[in-house]
Amino acid sequence: MSTIGLDANHTPFKYLDEYINAPDWETLHNEVCQGIAKAEWNKKFVSSGVHKKWADKEITTTFVDLKNRLTEDQLKIFVSLTSTDEKIKFLNALTYTPHPFWVIFLRWNKRVEKTGVYNKATPEDCFWTPNAKLFPSLVKLIESMPFEGIGRVMFFMTEANNQTVPHYDVANDAQRAEKPHDDFIWLSTKPNSKGIFVMDGETLEKVYPDPTKKFVWWNEMDFHGTDPVDHFSFSIRIDGKFKPEVRAALTAG
Ligand SMILES: [Fe+2]
Repeated sequence: MSTIGLDANHTPFKYLDEYINAPDWETLHNEVCQGIAKAEWNKKFVSSGVHKKWADKEITTTFVDLKNRLTEDQLKIFVSLTSTDEKIKFLNALTYTPHPFWVIFLRWNKRVEKTGVYNKATPEDCFWTPNAKLFPSLVKLIESMPFEGIGRVMFFMTEANNQTVPHYDVANDAQRAEKPHDDFIWLSTKPNSKGIFVMDGETLEKVYPDPTKKFVWWNEMDFHGTDPVDHFSFSIRIDGKFKPEVRAALTAG
């Protein structure tokens, strides 16, 4: 068994539906899409601990060897760009770059170290961004979720016909061994869209969540990803700290 899971039985997914009053999904979806249309989209490294079988399908591999891959003029522009966001956008436009993702932050964590993964579920380190005002019903829903504190809140948006390669949510095995996995809720308001899976790192067998559930949690240190779909898709992830009694019930087995 190389799936860690969320309890002693290595259960890959848990669901928060029973702790959340279901919204009017159609109204929420319409408003969420209006927000997506108006919000600032960013490029960011999103698939950190990529499974070695998918290593060449991931963005960081395109950041190496740039001296040989880009012309002198292209390299000059690349170096002049100040943010990762600009650098990824430039490479995306310039050449083949496997980065079909966009993110929108509704809440962000202040940087206490380079990777940003250590405090993404720490409520006191996180703050609402101006984007949050564009998603009032979603924010209301988030504030009704069974968290004692809300951490980072973000959209992951994926261009049509692209997968999210199997990965875990820290940069490498050393971090994976050391950092506890965080509490979070994952959802999408778009029906019949992006499909998340948890994958056994050895057998590569994928497990999918119960399709009747809307609010999903898995162990972010397990390999996970999304299959490609033939349309633009998105999901919303809310990190934070579950109320203790909720966490205890979810992890009891
Ligand atoms: Fe992930």
